[in-house]
Amino acid sequence: MEKRITVRDLAKMKAEGRKITTVTSYDAITARLVDEAGIQLILVGDSAGNTVLGYENTIPVTLEESLMLTAAVRRGAKHAMVIGDMPFMSYQVSEEEAVRNAGRYLKEAGADGVKLEGGRSMLKTIRRIVDASIPVFGHVGLLPQSVLKDGGYRIHGRNEEAQQIIDDALAVQEAGAFAVVLEGVPRDLAKEITEKLTIPTIGIGAGPFCDGQIQVVTDILGLGTFVPRHAKVFTNLAQYTADALKQYREEVEAQSFPAEENTAK
Ligand code: KIV
Repeated sequence: MEKRITVRDLAKMKAEGRKITTVTSYDAITARLVDEAGIQLILVGDSAGNTVLGYENTIPVTLEESLMLTAAVRRGAKHAMVIGDMPFMSYQVSEEEAVRNAGRYLKEAGADGVKLEGGRSMLKTIRRIVDASIPVFGHVGLLPQSVLKDGGYRIHGRNEEAQQIIDDALAVQEAGAFAVVLEGVPRDLAKEITEKLTIPTIGIGAGPFCDGQIQVVTDILGLGTFVPRHAKVFTNLAQYTADALKQYREEVEAQSFPAEENTAK
């Protein structure tokens, strides 16, 4: 059986200065391809809301939707660590509910851990989940689940806000998280946090100095309707898919598909 990546492997990668690659996935087919590419960590992000579920943002994503997507990704990924992203209101109401919901990712979806957003305000919640032996991936800086409160998406941690982001990252580490996402923070601040923390920092829109990078898979494969500044489009799957589907329709209409070799005798 192939060895599964663990929290210890990620800690070792940070200690040895080897970069950690992370990408989101929402289905078994993509997860298999990500796994075969040797990527260490898959986040079943609540970005599923705006990527594959057709919502405007991550707020409407439900726990049941997230669990279903996480189980599919787990079935596709044999080697990568799979982390379920706890959706809005699945961990904010009480610590008890947070622990119970986090446990469902391991028991029902086969995940290796959970991610949740927030720093100092989530210290006790993270600690309770870790005390239940559930690995937690923290997330500080720009928090998409707080988009309504913050009035939009913006860089976090410029000027006097920098110390708050450092304190948030330290709180996540102190609570026992195995790694932390730094989203939308200035590169020099991300560098400072990465040097201060003993756990790996995984950046998105946080520059090159983090211990690893995370990207939304639909952004880097060219399937998004808009490309955020922090993303690079490595291929144009939308164009390839559109061309293939058009050709399929044309061949059906021209009766050149199915051909002899596609037909049962
Ligand atoms: O939901 C998500 O995809 C995320 C990453 C972008 C960090 O939280």
